Amino acid sequence: MKQLYSKQAIARQTARIGTEISRDYQGLEIILVVVLKGAMFFAADLARTINNDVNVKIDFIRVSSYGTSTESCGVVTFKTDIETDISGKHVVLVEDILDSGLTLFELQKHLQKRQPASLKVCTLFDKPGNRVVAINPDYCGFSIKNDFIIGYGLDYAERYRNLSAVYRFDPEQHQSTTGES
Ligand code: PRP
Repeated sequence: MKQLYSKQAIARQTARIGTEISRDYQGLEIILVVVLKGAMFFAADLARTINNDVNVKIDFIRVSSYGTSTESCGVVTFKTDIETDISGKHVVLVEDILDSGLTLFELQKHLQKRQPASLKVCTLFDKPGNRVVAINPDYCGFSIKNDFIIGYGLDYAERYRNLSAVYRFDPEQHQSTTGES
């Protein structure tokens, strides 16, 4: 595994996004809707970089599109919904990675039905070269190439989410050296 993004680099980009959100929502209330599971570490760190002039509330939504595979199966399954009434509220969807865009496309449709005052998208990593639907983040940490990455919330078959940095991962090499699938 090759380290691509250090803990410090991630913290710097997270703080920059926190500053942008603090500026954009000064004096307002926002609901951070954290997309589980991958975004949990990023969202926890991001929320703490937003200043006290913003009234921050947090909720969670759980969807899955990858299963244990490294490529989206194209079907987004809703597993747990938010509890907050977001009607008339400013919502920021927090993702770890924006890849094909299918997950966010479905999430936006799902949440727009509840008529939030605004709905923005924040992602730590963006893979614009892989997009299947036209969707772009409002806040983005890193625009990246098509590498499969793990760590800081991102998994391979549910492993490696707990790593503090982000690494390039080659599933085929992993399988040939470990015999694991
Ligand atoms: C990952 C990631 C995004 C989605 C992005 O979730 O957290 O939600 O894939 O991919 P897309 O743009 O191609 O739709 P995953 O389904 O792996 O679930 P997880 O967050 O629990 O790991």
